[in-house]
Amino acid sequence: MPGVRLSVPRETVEGEHRIPVSPDSIPRLRALGLEICVQSGSGSAAGFTDAALLEAGAELAPDLGECLAGAALVCKVQPPSVAEASLLPEGSALISFLPTSTPAEVLAHLVRRRITAFSFELIPRISRAQAMDALSSQASIAGYKAVLIGAARLPKILPLQMTAAGTIAPARVMVMGAGVAGLQAIATARRLGAVVEATDVRSAVREEVQSLGATFVELELEVQEGEGGYAREQSEEFLARQRALIAQRVQQADLVVTTAAVPGRRAPVLITEELVASMRPGSVIVDLAAEQGGNCALTKPGEEVVVGGVAILGWRNLSATVPTTASQMLARNVAAVAGHLVKEGKLLLDFDDEITAGSCAVHSGEIRNQVMREAVGGEAPGS
Ligand code: NAI
Repeated sequence: MPGVRLSVPRETVEGEHRIPVSPDSIPRLRALGLEICVQSGSGSAAGFTDAALLEAGAELAPDLGECLAGAALVCKVQPPSVAEASLLPEGSALISFLPTSTPAEVLAHLVRRRITAFSFELIPRISRAQAMDALSSQASIAGYKAVLIGAARLPKILPLQMTAAGTIAPARVMVMGAGVAGLQAIATARRLGAVVEATDVRSAVREEVQSLGATFVELELEVQEGEGGYAREQSEEFLARQRALIAQRVQQADLVVTTAAVPGRRAPVLITEELVASMRPGSVIVDLAAEQGGNCALTKPGEEVVVGGVAILGWRNLSATVPTTASQMLARNVAAVAGHLVKEGKLLLDFDDEITAGSCAVHSGEIRNQVMREAVGGEAPGS
């Protein structure tokens, strides 16, 4: 009896160099009873050659049509385009980063083709699901890379220099938002020898920040507590007071890395135009919240903006710029999700299970996620 076929089409979004399977994960997936089919060339940007994927046990398909033929499970990094969604086999399951902002047109195709779509962004962040947490694995790479691109853009070095001719002080790095990406940014900046400060509305992260060798900047404001370890959206009055409290730290920083986000909301504006104007020329802001609206008022997603000598980098999808490690980590998350959904070589979906139910965006011709349902006008399109 043929096993469940898991297909991995080539990513088509510009700059998306990751692949959701790796030569290490393929034997694990096969051990679950899955047959793996990868579209030829999908792993090349991540350094996984067709030969390596083949040797690991995958089949190779020359084009998208052949890759998707007979697939019960399709795994993609980026959400499918309209064209890709319309080629998914009817009734198949999809695992991908399907954000709640996925275009309604794409969702409509998933509904019409009765696709069961699982979203990495919707996987509940409970300890049982930690191995599946692709948001964390990719955020940690983004935090690391943010410091590297910031350091490379700075006109000075990060570590202290002591020479016979005298001492050069270390650079000052300010990290805003000490979640997964922020903590990795702190650790990376410390390894490069910078003096690091960090702030977050969740005071629970104080010890983690301090244990990485950074100073935690207390906000001493009444914070609206969130749920499940996440921050909640704060009032405009709170944000105004927060900006006033951190202004001096930002002015003194050489590199500011912002990662502050609130799930499902626009990112809070922590650095205003006026604050940028008061920063030293030559300083750099790396805004990891660029795609959620930006933590800096002047951020342009996907661009570098220079205002008064201050460079503001709003690069998108930074984890895809470290494709080998990002893919290795993502492939482990995918293998964990597949291990959860596939039992004895069959796709078994138990909607009484918190992880399966929570991460499923579309099933049986219906949009199950409320934000997505509202985005397409309240009702499931095509139903
Ligand atoms: P995120 O990307 O949603 O936000 C990043 C950071 O921005 C958070 O630490 C948040 O508190 C902070 N933030 C929001 N508004 C802010 C403001 N006005 N000023 C300063 N900082 C602000 O969060 P991320 O990194 O995805 O996860 C955050 C937390 O979620 C983790 O630290 C952890 O506690 C929890 N989590 C739990 C997991 C689990 O399996 N139990 C897995 C992953 C995360």
